[in-house]
Amino acid sequence: MNDKPRNVLVTGASRGLGLAIARRLTAAGYRVIAVARSKSKPLTEAIAAVERDAHGSLHFAPFDLGKVEAIPDLVKNLRKEFGPLYGLVNNAAVGHDGALAVMHNSRIEELVRLNTLSPIVLTKYVVRAMMAEGAGRIVNVASIIGFTGYSGLAAYAATKAAMLGFTRSLAREVGRLGINVNAVAPGFLDTEMTHGLTGEQRERVIRRSALRRLADVDDVANAVEFLLGDQARSISGTVLTVDAGTTA
Ligand SMILES: NC(=O)c1ccc[n+]([C@@H]2O[C@H](COP(=O)([O-])OP(=O)(O)OC[C@H]3O[C@@H](n4cnc5c(N)ncnc54)[C@H](OP(=O)(O)O)[C@@H]3O)[C@@H](O)[C@H]2O)c1
Repeated sequence: MNDKPRNVLVTGASRGLGLAIARRLTAAGYRVIAVARSKSKPLTEAIAAVERDAHGSLHFAPFDLGKVEAIPDLVKNLRKEFGPLYGLVNNAAVGHDGALAVMHNSRIEELVRLNTLSPIVLTKYVVRAMMAEGAGRIVNVASIIGFTGYSGLAAYAATKAAMLGFTRSLAREVGRLGINVNAVAPGFLDTEMTHGLTGEQRERVIRRSALRRLADVDDVANAVEFLLGDQARSISGTVLTVDAGTTA
């Protein structure tokens, strides 16, 4: 790590996977800017812990990513406050489920807005700043559902598959400017997003995984740290699956 801390923007970092990523990256010395609508208790505690431990640093930037038209100002203000952005982790998403035939259009729209439109627009403005620096790392959080499918998650799966196509094409577009773009595809994770799953459904996922267990948020956070680090400098346009072998 350089003397000057590298700024990494992590969306949806108030809980679940985003918070685990924020914790991992601060422990690795990054200056993490955590975006979410509200500052959760665990995020507040994580910020206090980082201040005690003197590794990297962790800052909260409240923002509703559904407000796509306000994204340019968000990026402008963050750059003014923190300086150049080295990394962007597009993690925030919603996981609405249900049979497509009866899913309300407003729910479908929210899925597409938050999981696909918003990260694409956010990346647009962040990548412009990275181009000026001639360096940067983008990690998009997809899902194995984007390539395996799952009954009841058709609209969600469409948004996650979209992030995979986005990752590959953008990697080609900005690679010559020194910017790496990759995705992680987690399997089932125990977070608020999946609290609706029954114990039996959870057990079935475990039984079907090669390693007979679930990956956890820290496993995925480690993969994100790797993709942001110097050891991944020659990796771009790829998808790193972290699912305990569910799709093996
Ligand atoms: N859980 C799984 O099994 C699983 C599996 C594969 C992939 N994933 C992917 O992993 C990522 C994280 O999922 P998770 O399970 O950690 O979800 P989660 O526990 O529901 O957390 C979602 C995060 O996104 C933020 N968020 C939601 N709406 C927002 C908005 N309008 N503006 C700003 N922030 C918003 C939430 O904060 P606020 O509510 O405070 O805004 C929260 O920090 C997602 O991309 C998901 O698709 C999850």
